[in-house]
Amino acid sequence: MSGQAAVSGERLWDSLMTMAAIGRTPAGGVRRLALSDEDRRARDLLVGWLREAGCAIRVDDLGNIYGRRPGADPAAAPVVCGSHLDTVPTGGRFDGALGVLGALEVVRAMNDAGVATSRPVEVVCWTNEEGARFAPAMLASGAVCGRFTVEEAYTAQDPDGRTFGDELRRIGYCGNAGDRLKAAAAYIELHVEQGPILECEGREIGIVEGVEGIAWGWTNVVGRAAHAGPTPMGDRRDALVAASRIVLGVRQMTADLSGLRATVGRCEVSPNTINVVPGAVRLSTDLRSRNAGVLEAASRRLQHLCAEVAREDGVEVLASEFWRSPPTPFHPLVVETVAEAAATLGYSAHRVWAGAGHDAKYVADRYPAGMIFVPSAGGLSHNEAEWTSQEDCARGAAVLLGTALGLAGAA
Ligand code: HGY
Ligand code: MN
Ligand code: MN
Repeated sequence: MSGQAAVSGERLWDSLMTMAAIGRTPAGGVRRLALSDEDRRARDLLVGWLREAGCAIRVDDLGNIYGRRPGADPAAAPVVCGSHLDTVPTGGRFDGALGVLGALEVVRAMNDAGVATSRPVEVVCWTNEEGARFAPAMLASGAVCGRFTVEEAYTAQDPDGRTFGDELRRIGYCGNAGDRLKAAAAYIELHVEQGPILECEGREIGIVEGVEGIAWGWTNVVGRAAHAGPTPMGDRRDALVAASRIVLGVRQMTADLSGLRATVGRCEVSPNTINVVPGAVRLSTDLRSRNAGVLEAASRRLQHLCAEVAREDGVEVLASEFWRSPPTPFHPLVVETVAEAAATLGYSAHRVWAGAGHDAKYVADRYPAGMIFVPSAGGLSHNEAEWTSQEDCARGAAVLLGTALGLAGAA
């Protein structure tokens, strides 16, 4: 290994801001939904940068992009670093992009220093991490790591009825199944924390020990549409009033079940008309906990709550879960290599679990995986005001470089 590799905070920041311009919203955030035209432009930009960095490019049948930097031992399993470029509709500039461009910066830094690693190093950009357009989240990393079939991915539909498969082909990123990730000595994902812990603790780096569990579902409430004028209050079967009780009941669960976070993010009212008593409502539910038992208890509580509201409000209620991702600890080898890299660089660090879902969760089902967090200003994310400083981004990339070098070994 020749010169000492070091990341360039300025170059990383410049790449982040250039990427953030794709899908930029008037409020300064990013709207880059999976498999949209904005996603295609972001992918094209990334592929160009990876090529400039001398990487061999692959695209698999889920649209995941891989950029491979050769190692002295081409047969060795690579060290893989990456994240995602898709965002939620009112997303920020750092969620996902920092992990993909931080991985690119690692390759660029290795190239600058003429570093030869024993293992190849791969940059990966996973398709559809957010699940905001095509549910569930982490669909493409999940398919590569055996949680979903490619048919489940291809038939996932967006609210307009377009399918994942059609959109993947439309943007020209439907590659080959043979190009999927097949081996990894380790996977490391750099990501903004998206919560307040590092900022509250005054620490620079998060050593992520695992990803909390997630359960996503739909709750359908069916009452009876009726005229808002002549229909007596006592004769109504108002689906929105019933659904409101469910929303408040979901919030109440978090008071009773410690460690549970619960969200109703989507509420679709029908016929959604000012002078019609709502006949039907569809609610989304998002339950999170580090404890699988708490997730299970919350799912059961939701069923009881729905039965109670149905009985008392004279409506039909059906709650059905369509996705559960269990709490997943990361591999000690990767976790401790991250801790060592942060300590070597003299950065303050704190051990945390990820409250958000990440592709690293499904990769961890197959390969040794871990994550590195950097602080989110105000703990804010999935918000256009999401912010992480250039210095924090650079620190995260430096820890990613140190971790990758430690796991890839010198040639
Ligand atoms: O939902 C999540 O936690 C992730 O942002 N997809
Ligand atoms: Mn993310
Ligand atoms: Mn996200």
